[in-house]
Amino acid sequence: MFIHAALGVAGIALSDLVLVALVHDPEPLILALIIKDTLVVLGGGLLLRWWMRRERRSPVQADQTGPRDNVPMLRVLVSLMELSHKDTGDHGERVMCMAEGLARLAGVPGEALHDLKIGALLHDIGKLAIPEAVLRKQGTLNPQEVALIRQHPQFGRDLLEQANFPRVVLDIVYGHHERWDGSGYPLGLRGDQTPLAARVVSIVDAWDALGSDRGYRTEWPQARVLDYLRDGAGSQFDPGLVALFLANFDALKASWEQSREVDSRASLLTVCAA
Ligand SMILES: [Fe+2]
Ligand SMILES: [Fe+2]
Repeated sequence: MFIHAALGVAGIALSDLVLVALVHDPEPLILALIIKDTLVVLGGGLLLRWWMRRERRSPVQADQTGPRDNVPMLRVLVSLMELSHKDTGDHGERVMCMAEGLARLAGVPGEALHDLKIGALLHDIGKLAIPEAVLRKQGTLNPQEVALIRQHPQFGRDLLEQANFPRVVLDIVYGHHERWDGSGYPLGLRGDQTPLAARVVSIVDAWDALGSDRGYRTEWPQARVLDYLRDGAGSQFDPGLVALFLANFDALKASWEQSREVDSRASLLTVCAA
């Protein structure tokens, strides 16, 4: 599966380069990339479905595991995606561990906590279907490019739905860009219409994205990021969850940093649960 994932990422990058080399006008290029990436999502979904069927037929693992249980495979998949996008680093893993800590504080119990972690790890998986030229573009995106990036929650949910991921995982992948005041996307849900797991990931996702270098801007100082979250409570973010995050920020961050030290010796789930 790791080889399939690596070949998949290489194929996406290569096909982007070929299209960029062949089509020079921006509008036809974006259209060609959208068509190509829609086919990639469908193909990826079929591959995941085939892999799940094969796993279910395995005499050793039959009826015992699902895609959410194969955490190493999911980690590799996300790492390969982040490698191909170059500027997001360990975004998925940081979001997973910090979201797990915040969700635990919010009272999310055992099995749901596991699914929340998987959803947090995979929250941006739909970006596999966004052309690298758009994701890594320096400067302002045009309206078409913004619209395309805003489709990544839909692309991600379409992909994971085909492999029977649990509801919580799909909720996070689809809902992590909704906003508390209803001005988010893709549905414009308000308040607790957005599932709790997605509201948790939304806060941690913003914290990590703003505190990291991206192609279009340098990282913000930590104090500025925390001010942004504080100011966004009640508009962008669930105010109760922001208060919980800020009140426990030092402990959550320390837990994440400690997890990185032992990461090479323990499974990720053990690390994040510590
Ligand atoms: Fe996202
Ligand atoms: Fe993200």
